[in-house]
Amino acid sequence: MKHIAAPFTLPNGSVLKNRIAKSAMSENFGTRHHAPSKGLIHAYRVWAKGNPGLLITGNIMVDSMALGEARNVVVEDYKDFELLKQWAKSVEGTGVHLWPQINHPGRQAFAAINREIVAPSAVPLKMGGASKMFKMPTALTEEAIWDIIKRFGTTARIMKEAGFTGCQIHGAHGYLVSQFLSPNSNIRTDQWGGSLANRARFVLEIYREIRRQVGAAYPIGIKINSADFQRGGFTEEASMEVVRFLEMKALISLKFLEVPMKNLP
Ligand SMILES: Cc1cc2nc3c(=O)[nH]c(=O)nc-3n(C[C@H](O)[C@H](O)[C@H](O)COP(=O)(O)O)c2cc1C
Repeated sequence: MKHIAAPFTLPNGSVLKNRIAKSAMSENFGTRHHAPSKGLIHAYRVWAKGNPGLLITGNIMVDSMALGEARNVVVEDYKDFELLKQWAKSVEGTGVHLWPQINHPGRQAFAAINREIVAPSAVPLKMGGASKMFKMPTALTEEAIWDIIKRFGTTARIMKEAGFTGCQIHGAHGYLVSQFLSPNSNIRTDQWGGSLANRARFVLEIYREIRRQVGAAYPIGIKINSADFQRGGFTEEASMEVVRFLEMKALISLKFLEVPMKNLP
């Protein structure tokens, strides 16, 4: 308990007051128009009273045309900025950090609530009896890939401006980032597919774009699976390698942004 209660300093200097974090849990509590609802904001007010070091929101989508669930919050512009500011304020005075988890569902998006479904490759999601709720995705064009990368940065920046104190890339659970990482769902033959370095390019570019938009002294985290436990899929070794790539990319980006060496991990 002594260690759990001890503060934890992140490489950028942010201090989490203890080592308890609420993991992202999709609340499905956005409004019909994908704004944060009053109830959602209130939930964070209550969770902050539990005194964790960090609260990570349920996944927030970067594109209203690509929803994981019907009541996801979407942040792609300043439309709901006042509500986002209220959400950030839900932890005011508690010293609790509040980070949005940023996501794009890719092919793991219900057909009933999405007009077009995109993925690294036109490989359908197989989920036993639930497979019929998903449809064949369209392979992303180069231009559309860069658009999504930019969107991750935009969402992170808007959330930062609203008062959130860091962010987390959703790189797990079969959503778009992990679809790029897995050779089962990514069968591209261009610079985004094939070798692990190519499959990791998407998440590395997302990191770079977020860093570009939020600046050096801002925490960017990632949730990544240790493996996807699929035959021929994303392995534990590959997962470790992606973490090393990210660390390298972080060092290069921060050095480029001229962060003092003592603040680097
Ligand atoms: C209702 C519910 C919603 C979740 N939504 C998300 C989510 O939006 N993003 C995410 O990365 N994980 C999500 N998760 C997974 C949790 O963050 C966590 O990784 C998972 O529950 C395993 O942790 P546990 O063993 O402590 O439950 C969700 C879990 C639950 C139960």
